[in-house]
Amino acid sequence: MRLAVLKERRPAETRVAATPETVKKFIALGLTVTVEAGAGLSAGIPDAEYATAGAELAPDAAAALQGAGILLKVRAPLGTGEGSVDELSLIPRGALMLGQLQATPEMAATYAQLGIEAGAMEMLPRITRAQSMDILSSQANLAGYRAVIEAAAAFDRGFPMLMTAAGTIPAANVFVMGAGVAGLQAIATARRLGGRVSATDVRPAAKEEIKSLGASFVGYEDEESKAAQTAGGYAKQLSANFYAKQAEVVATHIAKQDIVITTALVQGRKAPTLVTAEMVRSMKPGSVIVDIASDAGGNVALTKPGEVVTTEGGVTILGHSNWPGRIPAAASALYARNLLTFLTTFWDKEAKAPKLPESDEIVKGVLLTRGGAVIHPSLAPAQAA
Ligand code: NAI
Repeated sequence: MRLAVLKERRPAETRVAATPETVKKFIALGLTVTVEAGAGLSAGIPDAEYATAGAELAPDAAAALQGAGILLKVRAPLGTGEGSVDELSLIPRGALMLGQLQATPEMAATYAQLGIEAGAMEMLPRITRAQSMDILSSQANLAGYRAVIEAAAAFDRGFPMLMTAAGTIPAANVFVMGAGVAGLQAIATARRLGGRVSATDVRPAAKEEIKSLGASFVGYEDEESKAAQTAGGYAKQLSANFYAKQAEVVATHIAKQDIVITTALVQGRKAPTLVTAEMVRSMKPGSVIVDIASDAGGNVALTKPGEVVTTEGGVTILGHSNWPGRIPAAASALYARNLLTFLTTFWDKEAKAPKLPESDEIVKGVLLTRGGAVIHPSLAPAQAA
């Protein structure tokens, strides 16, 4: 069976779905691997390294996809009119496609129509057995790290308290909003740089995690927030009253911060606005806000997704898209391993092909389409009443 790896063509996408390390392992499983020329360049992997690992190189997407039974992607393939290449139309019927597809019901219906078996890796259940395949975790971790490094670079002072013969420079006050995977890594990174770190979250479990990393907890808690976590571990959408109370507590705290890193997401919705324009105005000139949630609409009222803005008051807001893509070699290495682990977990050694039983909780979570139909409950067409 042939496994294809395409060059990513969507804007700001620098990652690649396989590395020479995973290519070697796929070949050891009995696969033939084709990599589109230039696929790894933006992640620092030249074609020659894929060739050395045993991959065949294809000059373009059409050649790479010819006869492919498996396709590995970072982002959803381009469809008609979406770019220079209509990748979707080149995917052989029956191929298994894995990626961070973020499929709408319309996209899922198209995959089904084209006979593609689509696996959306971001829909993996958050269970222990799936941890090593969890692309959201691997990528969020790196995004949290990178956010702090970019904040430090944009900040006109330092993070640590510096006691020198010429005098003392105080430590930077760093506030992390949202202490999930990205936020916890941001806390740890900011602490390592010597910042004075505080953090907030709505999930009760996050409070202890924040403290265990040596940061202080700042936040509003009430009966509602005690039940703020879904069974899947995600934050729930909370009431307007709760958000107003949370904003009151946060407002006085933010005015004293040098660096604010926002990572808050609520699954399936626009990211909550946690930092209002007024809060931004309360910050000192030279302060930096990093909005990791910018792709989901942002946690900061003044974020321009994909852009860096400096307000009249001298506060810089980094609203870049695709934070994991800003550390592409490491992000690709982990992403590629997540996909490798998924495929090796569901591998039929005799047939040398993937075997995805729909009875398995992980497969059930990930698989969108099969046999020409949309099978995922969250994307299946609404039943007529
Ligand atoms: P996420 O990316 O969905 O959200 C980031 C953070 O924002 C979360 O901690 C969330 O509680 C927080 N948030 C949402 N609304 C907020 C608000 N108004 N104010 C402040 N914070 C707000 O979350 P992520 O990083 O994916 O983690 C979600 C949970 O899943 C965590 O409990 C994590 O430990 C757990 N997890 C479990 C895994 C496993 O067992 N396999 C793997 C990865 C994560």
